[in-house]
Amino acid sequence: MCASCGNDGTPLYKDASAPVGKRVEDLLGRMTLEEKVGQMNQFVGLEHIRKNEASLSEEDLKNNTANAFYPGFSADSVAEWTKKGLVGSFLHVLTLDEANYLQSLAMQSRLAIPVIFGIDAIHGNANAPDNTVYPTNIGLASSFDLGLAYRIARETAAEMRAMNMHWTFNPNVEVARDPRWGRVGETFGEDPYLVSLMGEETVKGYQGDLSSDDVLACIKHFAGGSQPINGTNGSPTDLSERTIREVFFPPFEKGVEAGAMSLMTAHNELNGIPCHSNEWLMEDVLRGEWDFKGFVVSDWMDIEHIHDLHATAENLKEAFFQSIMAGMDMHMHGVYWNEYVCELVREGRIPESRIDESVRRILEMKFRLGLFEQPYADEKTTMDVRLCETHRQTALEAARKSIVLLKNDGLLPLSPEKYRRVLVTGINADDHNILGDWSADQKPENVVTVLEGLKMIAPQTDFVFVDQGWDPRNMSRQAVDRAASLARTCDLNIVVAGEYMYRGRWTERTSGEDTDRSDIDLVGLQNELIQKVAASGKPTVLVLISGRPLGTQWAAEHLPALVNAWEPGMYGGQAIAEILYGQVNPSAKLAVTIPRSVGQTQMIYNHKPSQYFHPYAVTPSTPLYPFGYGLSYTDYEYSDLRLDRTEIPADGSVKVSVTVKNTGRMAGEEIVQLYIRDRFSQVTRPVKELKDFARIALEPGESRNVEFTVTPDKLKFLDKGLKPIVEPGEFIVMVGPSSDDRDLLTASFFVR
Ligand code: GLC
Repeated sequence: MCASCGNDGTPLYKDASAPVGKRVEDLLGRMTLEEKVGQMNQFVGLEHIRKNEASLSEEDLKNNTANAFYPGFSADSVAEWTKKGLVGSFLHVLTLDEANYLQSLAMQSRLAIPVIFGIDAIHGNANAPDNTVYPTNIGLASSFDLGLAYRIARETAAEMRAMNMHWTFNPNVEVARDPRWGRVGETFGEDPYLVSLMGEETVKGYQGDLSSDDVLACIKHFAGGSQPINGTNGSPTDLSERTIREVFFPPFEKGVEAGAMSLMTAHNELNGIPCHSNEWLMEDVLRGEWDFKGFVVSDWMDIEHIHDLHATAENLKEAFFQSIMAGMDMHMHGVYWNEYVCELVREGRIPESRIDESVRRILEMKFRLGLFEQPYADEKTTMDVRLCETHRQTALEAARKSIVLLKNDGLLPLSPEKYRRVLVTGINADDHNILGDWSADQKPENVVTVLEGLKMIAPQTDFVFVDQGWDPRNMSRQAVDRAASLARTCDLNIVVAGEYMYRGRWTERTSGEDTDRSDIDLVGLQNELIQKVAASGKPTVLVLISGRPLGTQWAAEHLPALVNAWEPGMYGGQAIAEILYGQVNPSAKLAVTIPRSVGQTQMIYNHKPSQYFHPYAVTPSTPLYPFGYGLSYTDYEYSDLRLDRTEIPADGSVKVSVTVKNTGRMAGEEIVQLYIRDRFSQVTRPVKELKDFARIALEPGESRNVEFTVTPDKLKFLDKGLKPIVEPGEFIVMVGPSSDDRDLLTASFFVR
């Protein structure tokens, strides 16, 4: 490629008015092999290195996927490589100051190619301090509010760019199928349709028109890691191609359609082949079938794991070779990459044209994101955007819409006049753990804990707080007994329990990334606390803070009220209190099934007909709470389900309408759900599948006619040859407030 310059001698790639494609080619033509391979390599930030080399051993690095340093190489070496233009990207850079510093090093390199900063902005840019923290994805999905998902992504993009972050490793569009897995909270739940739509809106919100006020989205993890054979993150996934294509692929395909321009491969092997060297995934499906135009980034040291874990490469160099030739574009992260990949090219094993493919994809994003024109962010204005009032209000709105009321025998909403002295206890009653996984320390003034929220909403109430500490594994029976005795002196008890996700105490967590469990009950003395407090005879409310579904059977059977707040973010405490005291009418619905116990796993709503042909002996075969379920303080009546026709051609559509009436005394928002079942089909089909939903606001006494259109794409499935078809026959339409058959109105139509 010939390099060219403008009239004033400026290299074409530096001309912002030139077409991106031409800028890419001009720059590529100027780059050495080392500079090209460097663009394909990512490092963790210097402060991250320094912190971890001071606190971790090399042994600690082995199965760590969140903290790193490079034994034998200093942070200063990484800084030097950056100045030489041999580093393309950084992650885990948590301050604007460091980001601008690292960028200043890159801009000193021969070609002054800016680095792209990636960060796990999973629910706002929460993984860095001083940013708005929204509910995590499972809570957002439980709002069924697609516009909210878009808005949160838009706001997150603005806060990221204000901190010189350009690329979020989100949305996680995996379909959660196992509550033992610690990352359920990071997903949009168990339904492929809901996950697809939430992922689509999130990608669109992040990327906008992919210019200087947008960020690059990264759909992850591709693929199948959310159904690990034993529930633990990164363990093998063994799935039929049918299940992969029907369940796990759709959210990724939708993400590609939405324009996602980066994708992260999954830790796990898929049917014997590590995802990071899986040509079928990265080339045949992603680029061949879906025409993905972005770049693929590895997950944390997973290319290395092709060698040192999956053992399908005899050494690191082979692992790098396999991964690149299978379609990998960027290495997360660290040393030996540059050296070995340049060797592989010089040995002729990797054609330089293959390297050019990856570098083009990466450079195109850097040009489109405006990094060459705007390599820095402004310290003076960064906090004009981050934590601004508009974003705070969105975080509060999202928290209110994400909290699921699971049980209420009439106790809620609470009356301050009736309950003047209230016990508050539990590991999550007054802790920043409420922020959820993927959250850095945030300033106290930017977090409302449950106790703080209660005092804010019911200032005249005497809240008696008994601290149970933060660590569910090491609770004290003395504190439990103290709560139990004080409960007898109170009018009502609120226990805030759940999981522990705070990354600052990585090994003490009970949920979150790489924190999977063989159980889904409450850890430690939490059940004992709940039962002893309830034994006081005073009404007891249980509030759960958790990313994973928890099988709190005893509480569900014995307590008058149960609230599942997921990981509600910075204003979670306020939103919980507003809901408990009726200032907000809860509206969320479960985006994932809550089993009674881990033994019921796999328990999903869209199961096949034979799944409970023989129900369990001794224990029930029904969930504790089903997908799509959530209560309100008002009541909704569904009636008059109608189809505009009962026969359609295979390419026809059916209009479905239903009347929903608010028959209670409180205004509220209802999430109307439409499920479809293909009654008879050439392959087995789920007993129901979510195919549409609508979130509607209704005043007391108000009725609304809700309309859906069932189009052929909602009837399609993969035939015996895995080809999509719409098969003639009967289809059952189900509409209602949850996936529970008892809640659903049904009608049917025929495809002729
Ligand atoms: C982790 C996670 C991935 C994350 C990456 C960077 O291993 O699996 O989701 O984006 O590392 O933090």
